[in-house]
Amino acid sequence: MKKKTLLDLQNMKGVDPITWITAYDLPFAQSAEKAGIDMILVGDSGGMVQLGYETTNPVTMDEMITMAKSARKGAPNTFIVGDMPQGSYEVSNELAVVNALRFVKEANVDAIKLEGGCRVQDRVRAIVNAGVPVVGHLGLTPQSTASFGGYRVQGKTRESFNDTYEDALALQKAGMSLLLLEAMPAPPAKKIAEVISVPVLGIGAGKDIDGQLVIMHDLMGFYQSFRPWFAKCYIPCVANKFVEYLNDIVLANGSENPLKDIGRSNRGDGLLKLAEMAISEYIKETKAKVFPDQDYTYPIKAEELDDISKSRYW
Ligand code: KIV
Repeated sequence: MKKKTLLDLQNMKGVDPITWITAYDLPFAQSAEKAGIDMILVGDSGGMVQLGYETTNPVTMDEMITMAKSARKGAPNTFIVGDMPQGSYEVSNELAVVNALRFVKEANVDAIKLEGGCRVQDRVRAIVNAGVPVVGHLGLTPQSTASFGGYRVQGKTRESFNDTYEDALALQKAGMSLLLLEAMPAPPAKKIAEVISVPVLGIGAGKDIDGQLVIMHDLMGFYQSFRPWFAKCYIPCVANKFVEYLNDIVLANGSENPLKDIGRSNRGDGLLKLAEMAISEYIKETKAKVFPDQDYTYPIKAEELDDISKSRYW
């Protein structure tokens, strides 16, 4: 499959939901590319799910580069976004540009992502001016959970909606190429996607936007201490299909040890194939706007919706 360019992705807005998944290493990036994913994020969530930190905050730029290099090896033909870890962009525009360029030069990523709105507007402009596309990240931004008072759903009050809306406009003005909204009920996310000209993707932000992001380890069912509300494991959805696939090959194969033969010929006897099937199912459901359904979308009360609908931006 031909690698998607930023322009290809931007042209998908409102037409074809974009599918995005995290990957931090070669095998899972390879499964994602084989399944036909549109984009990969080497997220700082890798610090938690892969490296075992309790939050994303300890992850270093060197660790992010190592994970991104490995993911790039597994997915040479996929648009990859590198996630700027805490401490790699806050201090100055110069530091932000140096680290964004490290991602591009050392790990060959196609874009970087950073958290925050108005407060990082200058950083976004500086990185874009250095020639590196930037993905914005608003809503719940895990690097600043301490100032939110924990992992909390965003955009449910008029004030929080107004702040997110203004942040999105500020990032757009600074030149961001795509926007990610995390942990937000569907109606405010939709409102923001309608006003922003670039694709707005969501993780836990409902399906009325331009695409979805999921965490690979949630999709595969590798949970650590915490399972977010919006996390859907796709292994049960494809387990029967995987067994049928193996049986079909066994039946079609006259040899005495067909499972050994599958393993040796197309290497489709194990986790690489199962992961590819699970990711394909996520892609199918996202393209059909079946995912995320209500079970994986944050609810909003009538009185909360009534309040935000009185916003000057609604
Ligand atoms: O690091 C990551 O995977 C992320 C998502 C949680 C949005 O930033």
